[in-house]
This record gives sequence, C-alpha cells and structure tokens, in this order.
Amino acid sequence: MAESMQGLKRTHRCTEVTKADIGETVTLMGWVQKRRNLGSLIFVDLRDRSGLMQIVFDENDIGSEGFEKAGTVRSEFVLAVVGRVEARSGAVNEKMSTGELEIRATQLRVLSEAETPPFPIEENSQTKEELRLKHRYLDLRRPDIQRNLMVKSRVATLSRNFMAEQGFLEIETPMLGKSTPEGARDYLVPSRIYPGSFFALPQSPQLFKQLLMCSGYDRYFQIARCFRDEDLRADRQPEFTQMDMELSFVDIDDVIEVNEKLLVHLWKEILGIDLKTPFRRMTWREAMDRFGSDKPDLRFGMELHNVSDTVKDSGFAVFTGAIAAGGSVRGINVKGQAGMPRKKIDSLTEFVKGYGLKGLAYLAVLEDGSYKSSFAKFMTPEELNSLVEAMDGERGDLLLFAADKDKLALETMGALRCELARRLELIDQSKFEFLWVVEFPLLEYSEEEGRFTAMHHPFTMPMEEDLPYINTDPGRVRAKAYDIVLNGCEIGGGSVRIHQNDIQEKMFECLGFTKEQAQEQFSFLLNAFKYGVPPHAGLAYGLDRVVMLMLGLDSIRDVIAFPKVKDSSCLMTQAPAPVAAKQLEELGIQVKQS
Ligand code: AMO
Ligand code: AMP
Repeated sequence: MAESMQGLKRTHRCTEVTKADIGETVTLMGWVQKRRNLGSLIFVDLRDRSGLMQIVFDENDIGSEGFEKAGTVRSEFVLAVVGRVEARSGAVNEKMSTGELEIRATQLRVLSEAETPPFPIEENSQTKEELRLKHRYLDLRRPDIQRNLMVKSRVATLSRNFMAEQGFLEIETPMLGKSTPEGARDYLVPSRIYPGSFFALPQSPQLFKQLLMCSGYDRYFQIARCFRDEDLRADRQPEFTQMDMELSFVDIDDVIEVNEKLLVHLWKEILGIDLKTPFRRMTWREAMDRFGSDKPDLRFGMELHNVSDTVKDSGFAVFTGAIAAGGSVRGINVKGQAGMPRKKIDSLTEFVKGYGLKGLAYLAVLEDGSYKSSFAKFMTPEELNSLVEAMDGERGDLLLFAADKDKLALETMGALRCELARRLELIDQSKFEFLWVVEFPLLEYSEEEGRFTAMHHPFTMPMEEDLPYINTDPGRVRAKAYDIVLNGCEIGGGSVRIHQNDIQEKMFECLGFTKEQAQEQFSFLLNAFKYGVPPHAGLAYGLDRVVMLMLGLDSIRDVIAFPKVKDSSCLMTQAPAPVAAKQLEELGIQVKQS
C-alpha cells in the first residue's frame, strides 16, 4: 500500500548527509537498491540521484510495526525514512561515499511499491541495450547514466554562463522552417493549412543565425535541437543538440580564441584538467596525407606514408597500375608486429575490403633481416629495400600497403590505422588530444550527382588567395572552414561566411544553381544581404559528442535521455507510428501502400 508523504519533508539527498550531521535527525526519500535481513536488524541501501545511504532498521528504534514494514520492502520501492545519523556500526564501505555513515530509522513510509524490474538497476549494466532502451525510464535510474546526464546539464549551464560573459545573446530560432537542398535529408512536417506543403525541422540554425548577424545582434548563442534524417552510427542521432554560435566582425582566429577559452573552462570545471592552448592546427591536406582522415586521432602515431614515388617503377602491377591510373600507394608501419599471424593479417584484409579496397599488401621485416611478403616475388631486392627504407621499416616491423584511387587509399588506411590502434591497444584512454583542422576544400565533387557540392555549406567563405580559381578550377579552392576534433571525433565545425553578394552568386553557380533557383531557395538570406551585412563567422558543437568524449564513452546514446536506435525508431514509445486516417485526411495526405 502506498502511503502519503504528508507531514514529512526531505532534508537531504542521500550523499548530502556528512559526518558533521552525526547525531542529527534527517529525512531521506528514495528508491530501495537492496535489502538485507540480519535477524534483529534490517539493512536497506537507499538510492537517489546523489548516490546511496545505508538505512538500519532496529525494532528498538522503529517499533514492531515499522520493523515489520521494513521487512516487506523490495528493490525499487520508494521510501521516506526519518532517522538519526550515526557512524557506521559494522564495516566501513569504501565503495560508498557515505560508507562511514548510516541512518538509524525511526519512521518509515512506503511511498510507492514496485514490481520486480526486468533487469537490475546497477552501474555498468550487462543487460542488452535493446531491453534497457525499451524500459529507458528504468535504465535512466542507473548511476552511470545519471552521472552522464548530470555532466551534460553542467556543460550546458557552464557554457550558457560563459557565453553570456563573453557577450553572446541566447536567441531561439524556429523549429518549423523551410526545406532547403544541400546537407542531409530533412525531417518534414506536413502543413494542415496548405495541403501538399511541408515545414522542415532544422538541420541546424545556420541561416537564421546568419540573419541575426544581419540584424545586428553581434554575438548569438543557442543550445539548439537539430534534426537530420541520415543513417545512424555510434556518434550520430537523428535528433541531437548543437551548441551553436555566430559572431560579427570576426575572422577565423577570433572564433578559435573564444572556443579554446570555452573548452578550457569546461574541462577545468568538470574534469579539473588544464588544457594547454593554443590547440594544434593542421590543414585538411596534411591531416589527410598523414592520417588518412579529416578528423585524425592524435593519441597515437602510426602515420601514413606515401610511397607512390618509391614503387612507381617497380614490378608489382597492383602498385604501378594504381599509380598509372592517377591513384597512389599508401603504407602504414605497424611497429614490432612482423610476427602477426597470417590469420590476423587476413582479417585486416577483410577490414579494408569493407571500405572497397581490393586487397591489402604486406611486408614483414623479420628479425633476421629477411622479408615475408605478399608481393616480394614481384619486386627486386633493391626495390624492396628502398620501399622498407621509405617506410622507416626496421627489423620486427609489419608494413601494410593500399593501392587505389587517392581518396579511397587514404581513407581506408586512415580507418585501418584506427582499427589497428584499437586491436593493438595503442590508445592512451586518459588523453584529450584537441586539434583544429583548417583549410578544408570549399567544394567536393559528387560522382553521384555529377556536380560539385559544398563540403561545409554553401555560405562558407573561400580563402581569398584561392578566389581566382573558383570558376576555372573549383576543386582546388580552399575554404575558411574549420573543425574542432577531439580524439579522432569531430566535435564541432564552422566557417567564416560569405557576406558579399558577388561571391555568394559565384558559389551558387559552382554548385549548379541558376540565379532563379538560388533566389527561390534562399531568397530571404540573399535579400537580407542587400541591406547591410557584417562580416561574420561561427561554429557549432555537437553537445552530445562533447559530453560523450569528455566522459570517455563510446556511444552517443549514453548521454541522451531518450535516444533512438539504429533504424531511427524509439524502442520505448515505438515512434514513428501510423496515425489515424482522420489526421491524414486533415493534412491532405494519402499513404502509398507498399
Ligand atoms: P555541422 O553539420 O558540422 O555544422 O554540425 C556541427 C556539429 O554537430 C555535430 N553533429 C551531430 N551530432 C550527433 N548526431 C548527428 N547526426 C550530428 N550531425 C552533426 C557534430 C558536428 O561537428 N551550421 C553548421 C555549423 C556552422 O557552420 O556554424 C553545422 O551544422 O559534432
Ligand atoms: P595478387 O597478385 O592479386 O595475389 O595480389 C598480391 C597482393 O596484393 C595480395 O596480398 C593482395 O591482397 C594485395 N592487393 C591486391 N589489391 C591491392 C590493392 N588495391 N592495394 C594493396 N594491395 C592489394
């Protein structure tokens, strides 16, 4: 039977009770973690979001009725307990922050009973995620998830305060907007008043924050929900939260400076870690060449080598063929792994095949100086020696090579580098390696669409010195765009924006828009730009990713209260779901039966 709380008022959260309270009477309320009966004593670990406190029920303190009631409570019952704080009579529990204390109960109320939960509520749960997400309201009781969400809340509060101090205004932008091309797929919301017309949920507040700059707000900040209908990964959700900002009258260095300050502040306040600034900066080209990634993980070495020049005249057709076709050969030196069993090398080959590479060539430099290799028979000893030299190969090293189109060879080796670091446990998990990646290409050629698309978005400013190539050689134009990368994950990105109409027009031209199409899609922005627009730049973090990395977690779902699963559905609410025929009718929508 559930009892009322009336007449009782909670005085502390469980772990707010300290040694200084010994002898005081306190009132705690929370969930039963576990109960143990020891004959004349009953022990209950009471849990709230702060942690655990041991409650002792002794018939001499609480009377026979209360003692009997205490004997009936089970896991996840909600209790109110009044009692005296005492130093723990039994063994001190070092695992509990309140391990030296206990509460001798003098009053007990059962505020709510509970059925046995489908899985135990405990830290580092072994329960399958699917079951946990189905009952997320229970999963959210687990201390590790609670800690994650508490840290996320602190990151948001600290950021808000910090940004306000730096002169940023928090301004909301619409959730119901207009679908624009470019970027990911939109989530659409049908209009009732205009059947056949749709709002789009924002992929980011990009255009609105630029308009706010046009309107003179100078510095804008928002913790904004964003929606993208794309395939999910461990660090991607269809709805996620950006910490979004835009600044007027600034260039790249100003944006970087304010953001380094913000990150230093967050890491100090939350983890007590002093980050060194300035963070490293690397051009996109260098990141790709050295790490095969535009978001390199700098916690370990194993950089890529371009050995195309060394092998271009060799006898190995896989290498020479790729180079002749305009591609390249990229190698990784896996130090001390010459003895890697064939089976493991085969599994690495399978790994790269997953990226579309046709194979992985290897050469092991054995301890006696001889080579074991999948391609040695195609090369002369001199060719092999110079290849080993180009790779800084020493006895005991395993050299791996990919030959293909440049982009594929690089990206595959970049992925292999990370996979090897994981398998060989080369990553120091305690490190935070921040990196600014700068000078991204402005455009990338999409084979699929047969045209150039914006690498960041169509409003990103080209680098001044590359402007002359925008019509003649668009692929070589670099952008004033930057990403902030942490431990191999892109936690944020932004750019200086185009604020000159003529450059914006050229940009649309490159993207294959006619003047009319550009006007139709972005008229409000282009019109706004006619009336006086300040130079401006900005950046947005994936807040969920920042918190995930800060806490050393692998999954973005662990920092989102109610996340979606791989197919973008919610296992708890079972959204998305069909709607009533009447609703569809009102919206003028007819669903095609497949
Ligand atoms: P961008 O598209 O790079 O830039 O997004 C900014 C940051 O948001 C995070 N992010 C995501 N996090 C979780 N799930 C997703 N599906 C997801 N997609 C992106 C990433 C990313 O770095 N308007 C621009 C910013 C700007 O130019 O100011 C923008 O949205 O951490
Ligand atoms: P083959 O002559 O096909 O037996 O290939 C010899 C070696 O080259 C094998 O180890 C293959 O895995 C490897 N190989 C094949 N294609 C590629 C490629 N595109 N890049 C690197 N190695 C490759």
